Amino acid sequence: MKEKIIAAYEALADRYDARIDHKPHNAYYDRPNTLKLIGNVQGKTVLDAACGPGKYAEILLAQGANVTGFDISPRMVELAKQRNKADGDFFVHDLSQPIHRFKDESFDTVFCALAMHYLKDWNPSMQEFCRLLKPNGSLVISIEHPFFEHLYFKSKKYFEVEAVKATWSGFGKRIKMPSYRRPLVECIQPITDNGFYIDQLIEPKPIPEFEKYDQRRFKELNAFPSFMHIRAIKRY
Ligand SMILES: C[S@@+](CC[C@H](N)C(=O)[O-])C[C@H]1O[C@@H](n2cnc3c(N)ncnc32)[C@H](O)[C@@H]1O
Repeated sequence: MKEKIIAAYEALADRYDARIDHKPHNAYYDRPNTLKLIGNVQGKTVLDAACGPGKYAEILLAQGANVTGFDISPRMVELAKQRNKADGDFFVHDLSQPIHRFKDESFDTVFCALAMHYLKDWNPSMQEFCRLLKPNGSLVISIEHPFFEHLYFKSKKYFEVEAVKATWSGFGKRIKMPSYRRPLVECIQPITDNGFYIDQLIEPKPIPEFEKYDQRRFKELNAFPSFMHIRAIKRY
């Protein structure tokens, strides 16, 4: 599964980067809500887990954060470096593995936008996020809404974590993207079992700019959420 995810993103990376500034689901649905939960980052140390082509990093660097980002796709990391020139620090790393280069309590904020669904078991990553955060530091994740995924993948096994595959056509060439869908409890419990309490949960609606790019989906997302955003605080 992991090799297929890497291959899909290596093939997609340049087109993803070219569209990320205005792609409606990212620019006018995911980012406004994730950034709202991240809050003021002036002078803060921020870890962007699964940073993609570094669009979040670009925004947070401009707001005065000290940003470190990683991604499993070498091409995505290259694009994040190009986008952010000499700013930020970007490296290739797998979200499911510990990051030995950082000491405990290195970051004020850790966030992971639209990537947790590539992992079957969230527990090791949550443990590592907790280790890396300062006490009271915040973890922000955006994920595909578990009820949306259940319907989209026509699952008959709600309570299981299932390997699924979607066909993406929003980035030009059609691409098969594997991931894992999970029930709501599997989005919450790995967070609360690994040193966090949940502080905020958003079932987002798109911001008005979305409608200019895609009227049909704007209407759909105002009727039923595709994504969910969670902010958790390190308990100790
Ligand atoms: C939908 S993109 C989101 C990128 C970025 N967070 C954003 O919102 O613009 C998902 C990213 O997760 C990365 N990814 C997938 N599995 C990963 C893993 N196990 N470790 C690190 N990155 C991973 C992909 O390479 C891709 O860049």
